Amino acid sequence: MMQTFKNKTVYQIYPKSFFDTTGNGIGDIQGIKAKLPYLQTLGVDILWLTPIYVSPQRDNGYDIADYKQIDPLFGTMADFEALLNDVNARGMQLIMDMVVNHTSTDHAWFQDALAKGPESPYYDFYIWRDSVNGAAPTNWQSKFGGSAWEYVPHLQQYYLHLFDVTQADLNWENPKLRAAIYEMMRFWMEKGIAGFRLDVVNLLSKDQAFPNDTLATPMADGRKFYTDGPRIHEHLQEMHTEVFAHYPDAFTVGEMSSTTIEHCQRYTNPDNHELLMTFNFHHLKVDYPNGEKWAIAPFDFQQLKKLFYDWQLGMQAGNGWNALFWCNHDQPRAISRFGDDQKYPYESATMLALAIHGMQGTPYIYQGEELGMTNAYYTSIDQYRDVEALNAYQNLQQKGYTSEEALAILQVKSRDNSRTPMQWNTTKNAGFTSGTPWIPVIANYETINAETVLQQPQSIFSFYQQLLQLRKQSQAISEGSFQAVVADHPTVYGYIRATPTEKLVVLCNFYGQESDVILPDFEIGEVIVNNYVEFEHTRQACKLQPYQAVLIRVNEAV
Ligand code: GLC
Repeated sequence: MMQTFKNKTVYQIYPKSFFDTTGNGIGDIQGIKAKLPYLQTLGVDILWLTPIYVSPQRDNGYDIADYKQIDPLFGTMADFEALLNDVNARGMQLIMDMVVNHTSTDHAWFQDALAKGPESPYYDFYIWRDSVNGAAPTNWQSKFGGSAWEYVPHLQQYYLHLFDVTQADLNWENPKLRAAIYEMMRFWMEKGIAGFRLDVVNLLSKDQAFPNDTLATPMADGRKFYTDGPRIHEHLQEMHTEVFAHYPDAFTVGEMSSTTIEHCQRYTNPDNHELLMTFNFHHLKVDYPNGEKWAIAPFDFQQLKKLFYDWQLGMQAGNGWNALFWCNHDQPRAISRFGDDQKYPYESATMLALAIHGMQGTPYIYQGEELGMTNAYYTSIDQYRDVEALNAYQNLQQKGYTSEEALAILQVKSRDNSRTPMQWNTTKNAGFTSGTPWIPVIANYETINAETVLQQPQSIFSFYQQLLQLRKQSQAISEGSFQAVVADHPTVYGYIRATPTEKLVVLCNFYGQESDVILPDFEIGEVIVNNYVEFEHTRQACKLQPYQAVLIRVNEAV
């Protein structure tokens, strides 16, 4: 039986920066509703909203203070229900972002624990430990910098926070906590959402011995003691039984921090009853020299290709399923990072699009990607908003970088690069708000905006439309097998998608120079997708222009 989700595409909305209807400078639920026709025109199937629950917004909503209420910043529950109705009426679906590794310290559970200590029924919902030799229980590092433990003097214990100090990790060892989470997830499923994107869900299970790390390498920050931890598969199977199994078509995608292919095979193999698919981030670390995010380096193309091949082939072999993406609210814009947003914006954006959308898995588009939105290129620290970027700015200077050098690093690595307001038109603030946007609009909105792009007969937007339609029409794209081709090519990423009756080849030139490709085993047939007008080829060889990408039908060479 055909699994219907395989021909669908997901569109990620960052509500805060999508469209503001109230003039307070912050996007809202009504704003998403107003733009549904635009999303329908694009042709996406599933909308993923990043968190809109009540939150102090220290980490833009990933610090949830009330799981069952909409933050007034974004609107009301009635607004949400109206949005959901409209999404469904238009033949689309909606998934919520669910953060169950931690809550905000403003959450009533944590506040009760703080007030009453071990007497509180919620104390054991969090992870508390005594000090060891007068210091923090372990040397684990917070992913946003500094120790992962915070001391609470009146309780004389530390609590764990793998992220910000206001994001306290939940104790998944406690069955009562787990039951409360499942009940809350069913509450949302009952409203009629299609499912969840599960935030950092492979961090739920911590090694209960709480060992110290060696700190010998940049990666030795404690993560091996909680990444894909001891009971993680058990927890996800229980979540499946308690929540997803009640909703047969539930859509679930797990965000997997620093994971492995073996674990992702287990997370997504349908026989294991855990999740439908997983995000991994290895391909987005190919410009982290020695694993260091806060540094400037060109991306390592051979490593990128190897990672794509390994994950595509590995997940296929394990009967797993990948979520495919370049961009999200935590990543700089791909066009600025892997393409050329100055000289070849159309060519490089469309090449990157085909590279992802042709692979085996479910593609995700992040708002603005379909317009070719670029990095923010902010020039002053005052323009940054993200807690991670602000911490990094301080930390870099403590390490001896000048403020200019630190800013230059933020310009290429900050998460704020993708959190800038959606560029709708050429009016003030790119048509995002009539007020003052919470984060500055990028100056290039006068040329890069939805209204302008939609008028162009051939645009990045129309290229995405074509890819989304193709996924609906071609079984080789939605369900075909994956195989590498020209794997050793220095500048081209190539692969084959095939069913017993059809063979397609995707070739993507990742550089601003021409590249020659020879296909020893195939004869080039019909050109199905091409981001140039021409495609220069003979029977078995072709020349790709700067950032040219093609999807072609091939026949076995005789
Ligand atoms: C995920 C989110 C990110 C957030 C973090 C902590 O990685 O995508 O935005 O900061 O989890 O919840």
